[in-house]
Amino acid sequence: MKIFTTITETKDWLINVRNEAESIGFVPTMGALHRGHISLLERAKRENDIAVASIFVNPLQFNDKKDLQKYPRTLEEDIEKLIQSRCDMLFSPSVEEMYPPPLSNSPQRGEDMEVMLNKLFPPSGGFRGGEVMEGAHRPGHFQGVCLVVKKLFDIIEPAKAYFGEKDFQQLAIIKHMVKILQMPVVIIPCPTVREAEGLAMSSRNALLNSDERKNTSHIYKTLQGARDKERGTIQELKKWVSYKINENPFLQLEYFEIVNSETLIPIQDWKESKNLQACIAVKVGTVRLIDNIAF
Ligand code: PAJ
Repeated sequence: MKIFTTITETKDWLINVRNEAESIGFVPTMGALHRGHISLLERAKRENDIAVASIFVNPLQFNDKKDLQKYPRTLEEDIEKLIQSRCDMLFSPSVEEMYPPPLSNSPQRGEDMEVMLNKLFPPSGGFRGGEVMEGAHRPGHFQGVCLVVKKLFDIIEPAKAYFGEKDFQQLAIIKHMVKILQMPVVIIPCPTVREAEGLAMSSRNALLNSDERKNTSHIYKTLQGARDKERGTIQELKKWVSYKINENPFLQLEYFEIVNSETLIPIQDWKESKNLQACIAVKVGTVRLIDNIAF
């Protein structure tokens, strides 16, 4: 596997790949790789000639400095896992490489970036999917995600890019970005990989202590319970989920919403849409976990 830390080296290598008419499948990540990430990579490898991964903990998408500091970083092990899953190239840049100074020293995003963000998230009217759920609880998060993914797509120029349904809202927003900016890449949604007891795999699971860890399977069980329960009103269901999560002393509900799976707008009445996804965010001690299920 080739490993590059600079944009120039990466682009040079990819020019040769493209000259040989090889198709590129791309999996962007923030590292601390687990079986969820690897499932995306294996699929990229199956469906393309070349599989490329990136590992970059993107400071622009962290609204909470502490969360950024404690984000798990396991580059050596990640490289081993990528080699085993037959990844062809890893792009693993520094913050300075992705955001040259002064951007890397300041929280500002740059004028060209603001223009793009205004197109994606128009201040008046249009797409509102970035404002709810994660967007409401993590201000600036999706702006940071879109900026880095756009930059990565510009560098790698993949034919297909693979994203997990685990981050359902992120996936929908990336699809929206690709459509609005007419980017020549196909977004492939991939199913959530779970632990045997149901917990969605996440890099943040590594931050849980063993008691917290034991209790987290309750999150997915509650989502399944909510899906299979006899239907009352949305408000009744939200109350039930809130009770079920909060009755566990290790868990604290941040939000539970049933949303239109394309617009991401929470529904108030079952009649509003047929394609529904239930999305949840739960605090487990200081760790914040998200999950979702189709309804
Ligand atoms: P990260 O959290 O590392 O996730 C990278 C990709 O792996 C995302 O598409 C995510 O949805 C997917 N993924 C994570 N856990 C998964 C699971 N249990 N099953 C299936 N897929 C899973 O998401 C990000 O990084 C960043 O926001 C990024 C897109 C890289 C931009 O910085």
